Amino acid sequence: DLSKIEEGSGVTVKWRGSPVFIRHRTQKEIDEARAVPLDQLKDPEADEARVQKGHEQWLVMSALCTHLGCIPVGDAGEFGGWVCPCHGSVYDTSGRIRKGPAPKNLIIPPYKFLTDSTIQIG
Ligand code: FES
Repeated sequence: DLSKIEEGSGVTVKWRGSPVFIRHRTQKEIDEARAVPLDQLKDPEADEARVQKGHEQWLVMSALCTHLGCIPVGDAGEFGGWVCPCHGSVYDTSGRIRKGPAPKNLIIPPYKFLTDSTIQIG
């Protein structure tokens, strides 16, 4: 149920025993993610490919750092996204890796919108 997640905040839910971040992004966060040239990314992926059309404010992704699986901290880091406290990987507002040892962007699980405010992961 996304209805209680205010813009600019997020929650962590569990899916198949693993944590998943659901972030209600602000327009600023979306704009920042979309302004980044893909050639500046270690794991080049457009923000548009990481969210669903018409629901761009919702970022749904695995909460496991792609380095060694720690859980990054949100609202942190120089790219306004997440920072992994274990070895300093820094993710942006699209959950893409920008700095540090993690090789890949945070993984987007399969999910679908059942209504505008309800999603089903898996
Ligand atoms: Fe996240 Fe190493 S596990 S940086």
